[in-house]
Amino acid sequence: MRPIALIGMPGGGKSTVGRHLARRLDCEFVDTDALIERHIGRSIRNFFEQAGEERFRDVEAAVLADVIVDTSVVIATGGGIVLRDENRARLHQQTTCIYLLSTPEELYRRLRHDSKRPLLQVADPLARLRELFLKRDPLYRQAAHFVIETGRPSVPTLVNMILMQLELAGVLDPAQVPAFIDSARPPAQ
Ligand code: S3P
Repeated sequence: MRPIALIGMPGGGKSTVGRHLARRLDCEFVDTDALIERHIGRSIRNFFEQAGEERFRDVEAAVLADVIVDTSVVIATGGGIVLRDENRARLHQQTTCIYLLSTPEELYRRLRHDSKRPLLQVADPLARLRELFLKRDPLYRQAAHFVIETGRPSVPTLVNMILMQLELAGVLDPAQVPAFIDSARPPAQ
């Protein structure tokens, strides 16, 4: 199996969905933003302020190249990872890449109180999200093999939608994917 990479705008649920997906597939989960912060030894916001976005993108590209070598992994990526051609090519050629598509309005609802994301610390974050979406949506589509609309479904439902798509496309063997077990329900006799 190739690594499974989740891409999409900030606040679209890549890390949460990725963690659940990895649990269902019984494989490792990594988050490129968390690996970057470990590597730079400070917060991304702080690094953006001190070293600038281009330096951040260099580290991001290096971290992506590094995690992709592990096949049995679900990777959640930062929203701007598709800005570099080399990252888009890598994601498309070396992973099964899933674009979690959310509208700027949905993202704004989730991110309106966020103080961690450097690109959203502006007077009008909704306008910024719309601007980023217009620029990035075509780039996400270039890199992705699958597009999943996040909309209203719960995280387990989204994960089921992803698993179903991957099974239908022959990326996953259905025998590999244990059915969702509702832990609140007593086991069948
Ligand atoms: C960024 C998104 C962030 C993080 C950095 C830059 C972006 O990740 O990589 O702040 O350019 O959209 P999330 O998508 O996890 O918020």
